[in-house]
Amino acid sequence: MTEQKPVSDTAATKVHLPDAQTVLSVKHWTDALFSFRVSRPQTLRFRSGEFVMIGLMGDNGKPLLRAYSIASPNWDEELEFYSIKVPDGPLTSKLQHIQPGDEIILRPKPVGTLVHDALLPGKRVWFLATGTGIAPFASLMRDPETYEKYEEVVMMHTCRTVAELEYGRQLVEGLHDDPLIGEMVAGKLKYYPTTTREAFHHTGRITDNLSSGKVFADLGLAPMDREHDRAMVCGSLAFNKDVMAVLESFGLREGANSEPREYVVEKAFVGDGV
Ligand SMILES: Cc1cc2nc3c(=O)[nH]c(=O)nc-3n(C[C@H](O)[C@H](O)[C@H](O)COP(=O)(O)OP(=O)(O)OC[C@H]3O[C@@H](n4cnc5c(N)ncnc54)[C@H](O)[C@@H]3O)c2cc1C
Ligand SMILES: NC(=O)c1ccc[n+]([C@@H]2O[C@H](COP(=O)([O-])OP(=O)(O)OC[C@H]3O[C@@H](n4cnc5c(N)ncnc54)[C@H](OP(=O)(O)O)[C@@H]3O)[C@@H](O)[C@H]2O)c1
Repeated sequence: MTEQKPVSDTAATKVHLPDAQTVLSVKHWTDALFSFRVSRPQTLRFRSGEFVMIGLMGDNGKPLLRAYSIASPNWDEELEFYSIKVPDGPLTSKLQHIQPGDEIILRPKPVGTLVHDALLPGKRVWFLATGTGIAPFASLMRDPETYEKYEEVVMMHTCRTVAELEYGRQLVEGLHDDPLIGEMVAGKLKYYPTTTREAFHHTGRITDNLSSGKVFADLGLAPMDREHDRAMVCGSLAFNKDVMAVLESFGLREGANSEPREYVVEKAFVGDGV
């Protein structure tokens, strides 16, 4: 367990932050992953799946901001985020030490492509994520609109290890007891977590499990097709590129807010990974 040094101890947050929100809770999932909840600005409206810029005051007195998917649904009174801890990362080397009562900066201008409006109507939607790319789907899986729009929702999440899947696993498990959407989720949401570098009941990359047909066989589903299937993708650049090719092989085409089609993509982070 790493030592938790309150951010409020650092000179960076002694001053009142612009666009400040208060940290309400923090949970560390692994040495490299944590989630936290902050107060929600009363005026903030967003579509589930969008991201905002959040951060802390840098040592130079200027805001140090990074893009973060909002992991909570748009009806939630608080905002949740799910974060990597990049060793020596300008923001996350500090952000990982936040504690309840600390303040973070949150620029209230949500944007993004992983929104229902960017897809044509369909019967089944696939949420395809690696690593922290599950964050926008943590929002969308908790949004009643997801279950109103689709007959089936398939969440594929792949990480190297079992521990890295835990945030998503607990979230999905909790959905079934959720008073707001528990009944809507029942029978509709199919969760398919896999690992690639540790034994687990299902293993393998999302790309391979789609191409080989393994995920369809394991879940008893018909293969993807352009007429019925829609997909949203969030992972590393390499994953996004490879899974787009797989989706195209099933006939799906990339859409956008301005031109809805069968799938949409967003980067979970910029770069090759830490
Ligand atoms: C649209 C968008 C949404 C994002 N949403 C999230 C989110 O919900 N949660 C989150 O943790 N990050 C998210 N990111 C990444 C985030 O913006 C920062 O890069 C991350 O917080 C690290 O910040 P840093 O200043 O510590 O390091 P940076 O200097 O920003 O990153 C250093 C390096 O760390 C690696 N890296 C950064 N983020 C990740 C990551 N999430 N997973 C694996 N490797 C990473 C990359 O190689 C990067 O070059 C998002 C990025 C984009 C573009
Ligand atoms: N997770 C760890 O234990 C760990 C430890 C030390 C450092 N890091 C670093 O932290 C960074 C982020 O790690 P991460 O595990 O969140 O991200 P990642 O390296 O992108 O891997 C996340 C998952 O995506 C899969 N994947 C990667 N590229 C893919 C592609 N092109 N197509 C399909 N699937 C793909 C990986 O499978 P594969 O396993 O088959 O690549 C893995 O299961 C990485 O760059 C890594 O170097 C991670």
